[in-house]
Amino acid sequence: MRRSGTTSRLKDKKADRVTDGSAIHRLLYVANWKMNLDPPSSERLAEAYAKTEVPNGIDVVVCPSHTALAAVGRRFRDTTVMLGAQDVSMYGPGAHTGDVSAGDIRSIGCRYAIVGHSERRREHGESDEDARRKTLAALAHHLSPIVCIGEKQQDRASRRHVFVVMRQLQQVLHNLPPPRTAQEIVIAYEPVWAISPGGPASPEDAFEMATVIRQSLVDAFGERITDRHCRVVYGGSVDPDNVRSFVDGELIHGVLVGRESITVQSYREGLKGLSRH
Ligand code: PGA
Repeated sequence: MRRSGTTSRLKDKKADRVTDGSAIHRLLYVANWKMNLDPPSSERLAEAYAKTEVPNGIDVVVCPSHTALAAVGRRFRDTTVMLGAQDVSMYGPGAHTGDVSAGDIRSIGCRYAIVGHSERRREHGESDEDARRKTLAALAHHLSPIVCIGEKQQDRASRRHVFVVMRQLQQVLHNLPPPRTAQEIVIAYEPVWAISPGGPASPEDAFEMATVIRQSLVDAFGERITDRHCRVVYGGSVDPDNVRSFVDGELIHGVLVGRESITVQSYREGLKGLSRH
């Protein structure tokens, strides 16, 4: 992209993205760099991202590891690329060793935070209730949560996948306040078995689940807020060749990309694939 206007105009654009009162028609590309890059490599990749033109109609959110957030955020300062954290604490400031609060994450320039990723559920025993509390903390601090849900292989094999995902989402959305102005809730449907090196899911599987997810969002927030403040994305082995097949702009509004987001070549091709009609 390289900047088509002043810094302040870009900042306004970032802030106003979901406040214009109409449905969100923009597509979302979330890059989840996971724990793949040390801070210098993260900065180098951010520099290459910053030099890449983002096609019209696409929002990019980059989620580096916590240690690289500040430096990566500086690289994106005069661009439309937004910063996200890979996790956020469910607690406020205090005696919570190793956690990073939503307030701190917001103050470092993040607009988004991933919550409930299946790797955190598996490796750290995080529950739907934890994801709900993290979502609450994010919303309270003007962050837009990217809530990850998805069934395991055995759930799909036993045909319980729709039930499992609906239950996850209902638990996370329970008693949640609606997103505020300039905020959104992103639901990332990531079947656990589809995350690389597994997957991908078929587009039909993804659209089936996106229909269920949309209905749960409408039940929780009503149609107006769902249309204006909620996006559903698909994640799990997304690559430049398959990216477009998962997105229709109606039910699925973007992608969460892990492995194929950590080189600038696959990022550029992924954006190209996403913008192709
Ligand atoms: P993947 O990861 O694109 O490498 O499958 C996606 C994710 O786990 O967010």
